[in-house]
Parts: sequence; C-alpha cells; structure tokens
Amino acid sequence: MNTLVILAALVPIVLCAKHPSRPVDAVSRRSEMVKFGTLCKGNPANKPRGCDKFGCGSYGARRDGGKRKHLGLDISCSDGDTVLTPFDVNITGLARPYKNNKNPAINNGVSLSGQGLCFKLFYLKPVKTSGMLRKGERLGTMLPMQKVYPGIGSHVHVQMCDHSNPIPT
Ligand SMILES: *[C@@H]1O[C@H](CO)[C@@H](O)[C@H](O)[C@H]1NC(C)=O
Repeated sequence: MNTLVILAALVPIVLCAKHPSRPVDAVSRRSEMVKFGTLCKGNPANKPRGCDKFGCGSYGARRDGGKRKHLGLDISCSDGDTVLTPFDVNITGLARPYKNNKNPAINNGVSLSGQGLCFKLFYLKPVKTSGMLRKGERLGTMLPMQKVYPGIGSHVHVQMCDHSNPIPT
C-alpha cells in the first residue's frame, strides 16, 4: 500500500478540543512524503478546520451523530478564495460531494492524481476538469459554504480515493 503522506507540510495541526495539540510526526518518514503546497491562497500554512457547531475537520471525526466518520481532512478556506494546486497533478474529472445534489451551491470539486496518489477535493469550482496543472497554479474558487452552513469553518475537503487518512499517524 502506498504510504505517502500528502499533507506533510502542515505545521500547526489543530485537533479537536478533546485532543491535545501535537506536531505531525513528519521527520521519521520524510523520504516517503509528498510535500503538499498551499491549498488555499488565504491560508498559506494549510491550517486545518478545527471544530464548530457542524463538527470537526479532522479525519475520522463523527458525522451524523456518530453514524458515519469523516473520511477526509478539512483545510480552512474562506468563501470565494482562490484554491491552488498543492503539487503537480493531472485532473481526472469532476468530484461531487453530494450524490443527490443536496446543496447544489457547493456540490462541486475535482479528482486529481500525481506523485502516485489519487485524491479528491470538494467544495470548489474547478477552472477545468481535465489536463495538467503545476504546483501553485490556480485550481479553482472556493464555493459559498457559509450560505449552506452558516457559521461553519469554511474549508476544502481533502479525501484520498482509498479513504485512507491524508496524514497517517
Ligand atoms: C499526467 O499524465 C501524463 C500522461 O499520462 C503523464 O505523463 C504525467 O506524468 C502526469 N503528470 C503528473 C503530475 O502525474
């Protein structure tokens, strides 16, 4: 199995209030890591979404009152901000978070591949749905999440295609 750690560049990981803050163990497996560049222009350090009344942004966080788990990691991003390509990628298609088109205002995203990884980003309007993009290029625009979930920490959802943890611990 591919053990690459795609969010290795995250510095201040803020976990849910229940858990103490701790640094990512980024050193021991550096050779296997893919450096994840800035994802959202206004959040250069890729600060994750903490907890709000809708839940926590961490991988495995409770959803639907514990009926399911959060299969991705949320990176803070203000509505309307520019989403950047975190490393050289090929865009492999659209990726929509809601199968039934619930919340159409934010039901958009992309599937990406690169560095041997397959992953999806949700809640952005992509500039295109095929072709290559270089690290740091404009990938899309953050959708109006506050209109759908007022008071949430607006974020891009990062999800590996195999549903594994983007930051294995
Ligand atoms: C994108 O796809 C092309 C064609 O398959 C490949 O040569 C290239 O290495 C891919 N780029 C990345 C960043 O994976």
